[in-house]
Amino acid sequence: MLDVNFSATIETKQSNVFVLVIGGAGDTFVSDQLKTILGTEVSKVIAAECKELKYGKTKSFDVVVDGNVKSIIVAGAGEKNKFSRASFEKLGGYVFDSIKPSEASICVFTNCESVGNEATLAYLVSGMILKSWTFEKYKTEKKSTKITKIECKTGYEQINRDTFASLEKVIDGVYTVREMVTEPANIMDPDKVVEEAKSLKKLGVKVTVLDKKDLEKRGMNALLGVAKGSDKPAYVIAMEYKSDAKKPLIALVGKGLTFDSGGLCLKPAKGMGEMKGDMTGAAVVIGTLKTLALQDAKVNVVGIIGVVENMISGSAQKPGDVVVAMSGKTIEVDNTDAEGRLVLADVLWYAKQEYEPEIIVDFATLTGAIQVALGHEFAGLFSNSDELCDALQKSSNVVGEKLWRLPLHESYEEDIKSDIADIKNVGSGRGAGSITAALFLKHFVDPKAKWAHIDIAATEWDSKNRALSKKGATGFGVRLMNEFITNLCSKNEVKK
Ligand code: BES
Ligand code: MN
Ligand code: ZN
Repeated sequence: MLDVNFSATIETKQSNVFVLVIGGAGDTFVSDQLKTILGTEVSKVIAAECKELKYGKTKSFDVVVDGNVKSIIVAGAGEKNKFSRASFEKLGGYVFDSIKPSEASICVFTNCESVGNEATLAYLVSGMILKSWTFEKYKTEKKSTKITKIECKTGYEQINRDTFASLEKVIDGVYTVREMVTEPANIMDPDKVVEEAKSLKKLGVKVTVLDKKDLEKRGMNALLGVAKGSDKPAYVIAMEYKSDAKKPLIALVGKGLTFDSGGLCLKPAKGMGEMKGDMTGAAVVIGTLKTLALQDAKVNVVGIIGVVENMISGSAQKPGDVVVAMSGKTIEVDNTDAEGRLVLADVLWYAKQEYEPEIIVDFATLTGAIQVALGHEFAGLFSNSDELCDALQKSSNVVGEKLWRLPLHESYEEDIKSDIADIKNVGSGRGAGSITAALFLKHFVDPKAKWAHIDIAATEWDSKNRALSKKGATGFGVRLMNEFITNLCSKNEVKK
């Protein structure tokens, strides 16, 4: 990966970009080393120009040093009492956006250390690298800005190195999700997802793949019904990373629709292509396990994903069909486009039957309605446990991947009652689409487990630039889960 160094003395000769991070109102300290490079006069000008630089704002200058043009980016870190991991990661994203050279070798200077957050620069660099991700595999001409090297001048070398060493592994997991989501569905098909899951084996993850025969044997008919219209195989994949059996068992469950055409309840052509990203939940599970395993985290986690393609053919599932789920409940398939919950119904039940996890968190691009409710900022959170929600919210605040809890209230149950079966897979269309979807899932969750469902249909992808990602896949979920799981498992009082 990228060459990143944190050191008290840094080499500046080869670098073409200097980043100066300034914190505190009106504080325009320019580090001595940078002052020596730029000269007193230039430093004075920069200091005067950047006196009132607010949080997240940047100013760029081109300065000639020894005959070479160096690009200087000054970035405002804001008020010291508002410094946080999230504030520096985001700032890193803004800094990256200000870089002009197509190949950047960067030196970072700051006056924002020793204010109780000594890993400031590690967070900043993490933000830069997260923001730098692009997908140019299918472009013959590559255009993106490449960072070749980052040198950070710091008085807190060790803590920055240690922090970055683990952030780098989190970034790896985020990149994995973005890549899987961005790959088109003719490449990222069920077999390719199996391959991605199996690639975790080398990191010490036990991977079990259930194919059609296994799924039939177990009676996973809700999931298999969705797969009926596709020529591609369906799978359930379990990935166990149990490096400390004394920790509570956490199951991560993911919706893995490698493409969702809607089935016979076909989606409109406009925007259908985005449904290649309907396997984001599964990708988040794979990315999180990768991150944890790379860090050698002492945790007890199983990831379970349902991998299916929702298509049309003469053998496709029809509206009105009734299927018997693995749990024994009968489901009327009122709408073939509400397929994610059918897949998850069996995967959630499988999780209970096979693993009896104490905590279950599922990730799914489940409903378009979540975008209506929350836009692209917050993912929808549904849970049967206040305690689990509190813990998730805490992690959410640390990493800046935002969650908003919505009601999982029984009064909406009426909406998914079926005339012919135990339950139907869509509500009557009188609103609350994300809630009725979550309530549907609840029927297949072990009531003894603490369970959270996170609807990422609108946070997994954005048509606009975000602080830490460009237009396209965000990788939302990996940073959140890494924080949540490592935090939970580092507490000594947590027992099985
Ligand atoms: N995969 C979609 C949800 C989705 C929509 C994800 C937009 C990402 C962006 C899901 O399978 C779906 O089609 N849901 C339907 C449910 C409806 C039929 C009750 C929806 O949201 O329209
Ligand atoms: Mn659908
Ligand atoms: Zn879907």
